[in-house]
Amino acid sequence: MDVSDLRLRLSRAGQEHLLQFWDELDGAQQAELYAELQAMNFEELNVFFQKATAESSQASQQEKVDARMEPVPREVLGSATRDHGQLQAWESEGLFQISQSKVAVLLLAGGQGTRLGVAYPKGMYDVGLPSHKTLFQIQAERILKLQRLAEGRHGTKCTIPWYIMTSGRTMGSTEEFFTKHKYFGLRKESVVFFQQGMLPAMSFDGKVILEDKSKVSMAPDGNGGLYRALAAQGIVEDMERRGVGSVHVYCVDNILVRVADPRFIGFCVQKGADCGAKVVEKTNPTEPVGVVCRVDGVYQVVEYSEISLATAQKRSPDGRLLFNAGNIANHFFTVPFLRDVVSVYEPQLQHHVARKKIPCVDAQGRPVQPDKPNGVKMEKFVFDVFRFAKKFVVYEVLREDEFSPLKNADSQNGKDNPTTARHALLSLHHCWVLSAGGHFVDENGSRLPAIPRSAASGQPEAGTADVNDNLKDANDVPTQCEISPLVSYAGEGLERYVANREFHAPLIIDENGVHELVKNGV
Ligand code: UTP
Repeated sequence: MDVSDLRLRLSRAGQEHLLQFWDELDGAQQAELYAELQAMNFEELNVFFQKATAESSQASQQEKVDARMEPVPREVLGSATRDHGQLQAWESEGLFQISQSKVAVLLLAGGQGTRLGVAYPKGMYDVGLPSHKTLFQIQAERILKLQRLAEGRHGTKCTIPWYIMTSGRTMGSTEEFFTKHKYFGLRKESVVFFQQGMLPAMSFDGKVILEDKSKVSMAPDGNGGLYRALAAQGIVEDMERRGVGSVHVYCVDNILVRVADPRFIGFCVQKGADCGAKVVEKTNPTEPVGVVCRVDGVYQVVEYSEISLATAQKRSPDGRLLFNAGNIANHFFTVPFLRDVVSVYEPQLQHHVARKKIPCVDAQGRPVQPDKPNGVKMEKFVFDVFRFAKKFVVYEVLREDEFSPLKNADSQNGKDNPTTARHALLSLHHCWVLSAGGHFVDENGSRLPAIPRSAASGQPEAGTADVNDNLKDANDVPTQCEISPLVSYAGEGLERYVANREFHAPLIIDENGVHELVKNGV
């Protein structure tokens, strides 16, 4: 170990404090810290910090973007509820693309899940469904089912490669979990793990923060770290080698996610888009969700905090909010677009700074748990590449069909927790059973009231009901009904199990058939 050379390098970068406890460390700790610091590019880090903080202070001094914002024009918008006549065509196109093995899915699973507060990756979380399936298993089974649907339609064997982005903190346990569960029935070669980068947390004056005397405080570089990781690990080449044409990118924590949704894929492909975003309608002006819109003619996601309340409250003549395209981090990219991003545009993406409470050590090396923000984490966002798209499109879906994120622990109460995620899935599946002609009865055999279906077309799609209207918070308990993704991807094909039959909840429908848990004494 050439410590004096390291010391010189650190001092040139203004980071020499990182060795302040060096003489107190044992041999193993010294070796660990030395290796960690040697691997860091401090010049680059300082530039990231300066640019990110300059951008953040410029943004806070600038006027809000309100005056420069325009909503998504109707010609680039597809809607699962308003374009009913075209859903079949989009779905057929998507299934065709899948049948040709031209579609991949890419999971963003590198986050730390601090709000949920578990020590393992979020995808391994069990929200308490009757089957106790984890988020990873649910997603894997949806991929399997979709492959089968595409194969059934087109008579060709196909694969949907699954790229899973993890971080230094989640890589090992994620891979182990998949191995332990035999890749949930998927072929091992079609699941590709890769790791995103990490960056040190910095104090407000640009000093790298020590987590303890021998360890730098590191965090993943945001879900937009995706693009650098794609480049560093040759993932776009892997996609090209497999002949993949388009990729569906999504977050690990959305229990309702329709991975590789054929309608979304088909819509984007038929529109000739290189980049697309799936959105849900924002209905409450104060909901803290980013909206997809154009600013100075370029597509981007504008965060709630960046606009005034008056703009957030603006309405179109049809009564909807003017800026209503709520971003759910669910994107479509063509592989050529990703190739351009990793080869040309990635260095132009700025880090954003998030002020955080970062555990650290004080000048004496004692651990400190700050009670107010003491530094920043630097992150890129996955949607930062929208502005490079040549043809950008937006696809709107119903929130209750497709979006229920798991962010918080139940103990924090409120929204987006295991209970709301579980309820969202159960009530959607309840609705699928009703749409397929099944009924639920209570313990006296009386039929439970049916949930009204969406009247968007003469032939309503399974799962498009206004199912959550009376399930707005975690205290409303839905009918316990869970359908395995291996049986139905999005509500299709359930008639042969449920039509004209009556069921007692809890009900599970899986590959082995229909199970009424109480009746069977389970
Ligand atoms: P969130 O921003 O909700 O972060 O991530 P999180 O890590 O899940 O939770 P908190 O904020 O620590 O409580 C949205 C999605 O982006 C992924 C997450 O795994 C999740 O799927 N993500 C986030 C990454 O892949 N990398 C990151 O650096 C950050």
